[in-house]
Amino acid sequence: MAEILGIGISHYPPFSGVNENMADIFLYRMDDPGVPASVKDPANWPDKLREEWGEDRGMAAAERHRSQMKEGMAKCMQAIRDFNPDFCVIFGDDQYENFREDIVPPFSILAYEDMVLRPWAQAAGSSDMVGKPNYWNEPHDFELPIRFASDEARQLASDLIHAEFDMAYAYKPLHHPGIAHSILNAILYLDWERKGWDWPILPFTVNCYGEKVISHRGFLSRVEDNLRPDPPSPTPKRCFDLGANIARILKDGPHRVALIASSSWSHAFLCDKTWRMLPDVEFDKVMYRALLEGDFDHWRTRSLEEITESGNQEMLNWMALMGAMSELNRKPVWADFVETYLFNSSKVAAIF
Ligand SMILES: [Fe+2]
Repeated sequence: MAEILGIGISHYPPFSGVNENMADIFLYRMDDPGVPASVKDPANWPDKLREEWGEDRGMAAAERHRSQMKEGMAKCMQAIRDFNPDFCVIFGDDQYENFREDIVPPFSILAYEDMVLRPWAQAAGSSDMVGKPNYWNEPHDFELPIRFASDEARQLASDLIHAEFDMAYAYKPLHHPGIAHSILNAILYLDWERKGWDWPILPFTVNCYGEKVISHRGFLSRVEDNLRPDPPSPTPKRCFDLGANIARILKDGPHRVALIASSSWSHAFLCDKTWRMLPDVEFDKVMYRALLEGDFDHWRTRSLEEITESGNQEMLNWMALMGAMSELNRKPVWADFVETYLFNSSKVAAIF
């Protein structure tokens, strides 16, 4: 009989690196000529940011941030180990990795065959780790064998199409030789201790970046870059309903499945109203409260404008998870909110 575990984590790329590079996204913005000097002036920053910046440009804060994130990852990993799923569905954004000029689906199920991933050799155009040391000191050609739940992926795509969701799917990568960093980092971070990732994965990529997926190549751009927007991402409601449908399908099936949402919440570099310097922490706190209380309606009814204005494009991955948890009537049994201004994004971890 089916059993479902819900997990939410972050895939913040600098977590793969060393503390010296943890605030790189913030430093990029400090160097952006389009951001007014007054916004870059520490005198005008929130207290929490000044505190993180400290006297050492965030070095001590980087270590604290890392240990808080690690704690959440370890709890989530233990829950997955205890549950021992047949496979893991991982919802993650594709940031101009396979979603490129030649095709951008709203969602895609990756029904790949088993692969040997090379996280550092394949970092170009994906994880922001090119030319940077990784935290584990792994060699450039470090290999990570990963099993894919390709039969289950085909079945899920079929079932979703029968449920009126017109699913895209892929049997092999179109551009990036490995997998999108949202999926890869989820595994690298959950298995932080490198004890081995034992479960087949069913990656479910989401076009979270919408208007910025091609124009901004799903990542950093200067404030004054005048980029032609792409069509939007799927709406929050669509992502939520998709997740609910997935749960409905899986709960009638034979498998033990972990559903994992892989994303930080508000991203400073996507938040135009703060000059892309600060994440919208207040928006995130309201969403977090709703998550703790099981207020699914609050999640499902956020407009796409609210999501993009708050720099929460990647929260659409969590929308799918929350849709699934709503269908199963689950509140988190454990959750944690790591607040930061210096390190780009709020990091939430949760176990349902
Ligand atoms: Fe991402």
